[in-house]
Amino acid sequence: MTMRGDVLDGRAVALGVTGGIAVYKAAEVLRELTRRGAEVHVIMTASAQRFVTPLVFEALSHRPVIADMWEGTPQQRIEHIEMASRIDGLAVVPATANIIGKFANGIADDFLSTFYLAVQSPVVVAPAMNTAMLHHPAVRANLRTLSERGVVIVDPEVGELACETIGEGKLAVVEVVVEHIAVALTDPKDLAGVRVLVTAGPTEEPIDPVRVLTNRSSGKMGFAVARAAHRRGAEVTLVSGPVALEPPPGVGFVAVRTADEMLQACLKYLDESDVIIKTAAVSDFRPTAPEVQKIKRADRKASTVELQQNPDILHILSTRKGSRITIGFVAETEDVLANAAVKLKAKDADLMVVNDVSRPDIGFDHDDNQVTLCYADGRVEPHEKMDKLAVAHTILDAVVRLRGERPS
Ligand SMILES: Cc1cc2nc3c(=O)[nH]c(=O)nc-3n(C[C@H](O)[C@H](O)[C@H](O)COP(=O)(O)O)c2cc1C
Repeated sequence: MTMRGDVLDGRAVALGVTGGIAVYKAAEVLRELTRRGAEVHVIMTASAQRFVTPLVFEALSHRPVIADMWEGTPQQRIEHIEMASRIDGLAVVPATANIIGKFANGIADDFLSTFYLAVQSPVVVAPAMNTAMLHHPAVRANLRTLSERGVVIVDPEVGELACETIGEGKLAVVEVVVEHIAVALTDPKDLAGVRVLVTAGPTEEPIDPVRVLTNRSSGKMGFAVARAAHRRGAEVTLVSGPVALEPPPGVGFVAVRTADEMLQACLKYLDESDVIIKTAAVSDFRPTAPEVQKIKRADRKASTVELQQNPDILHILSTRKGSRITIGFVAETEDVLANAAVKLKAKDADLMVVNDVSRPDIGFDHDDNQVTLCYADGRVEPHEKMDKLAVAHTILDAVVRLRGERPS
């Protein structure tokens, strides 16, 4: 079985569902949590059950929903409260003004509010309500209290609300809610305050206004590194070539096209970075003189495209690296380790992540990868096949170790 790097995999999450119009979106959050391997226990307030029946959540979670403080045998009631000390996190989606007020003030008059007081793991609250309610000083004060207490608040978005107005108060999108839960559950935050610059994806070099020279990099590896670093507390800037992926929530995103644009972006963020992880598959070459007009089928120019070398970004960054940690990726199809050793020296990197892109089951555009880490001091560390988020965490483990080995 492939090792999975998602913190939600195998974790027990309690999902509190309260009585707001966005209640139907809690079902999507539940689906996403279970898709990522979490074991979800749903708790519904009485108001939530006026909107939808527990059946929806029972079917999706494959578990009974806790819908009433007094249901079940006395033993079951105690077990339900005891669950608060066993779960890895509590998420309330959507969170009404009412439950926010109860949490903030320690009121325990139903199962969810009582359960909250017994929870010892991270709590995430995703408010959804009309704009006037959200901005009411009572709600603002309650949210501030929860935030100061360490509860993670998923800021609602501006959008069309059920009361047919447009304003702030719409539940954040599912991916954002789930990512906040994943961040809250990630422990330790061993990259807290570390500024990480990640490059990802392919670059595109124009041949003419409609054609480009590019490669098959999907960006998945770099996006996984950015996501994992953010979850571990880093401040992340992700510079990416054209890919079909949404940037991970919470990560600063810079979209570029050509190798030159990628270099300029990296130089801009270099000063503000402690660690640079270059997963991008930068085109080594670019057409020397891209055509201004589209090359026609009959045009003889189409048969030859003259190329020139692109800047070697990792090398240029390495010459200005100072005390920063720089990590490169080597995607080779032959003599993989020997090539890595050469590149490690040539680019003065601290670590090269090596993968064999000739294998059909890993690397470019796959969800899995199998890498070997080659360190500047000659250490070679082979790893088993894992998904790209697990590879990302393996690389970040190495970053944490390398930072620890540095004289402070
Ligand atoms: C149609 C309808 C929609 C509602 N939508 C919201 C909402 O989006 N956000 C909110 O905070 N309260 C909303 N309420 C009010 C809550 O349902 C009410 O405050 C209730 O007491 C919340 O109970 P609970 O927090 O135990 O689920 C709505 C009420 C109704 C009737």
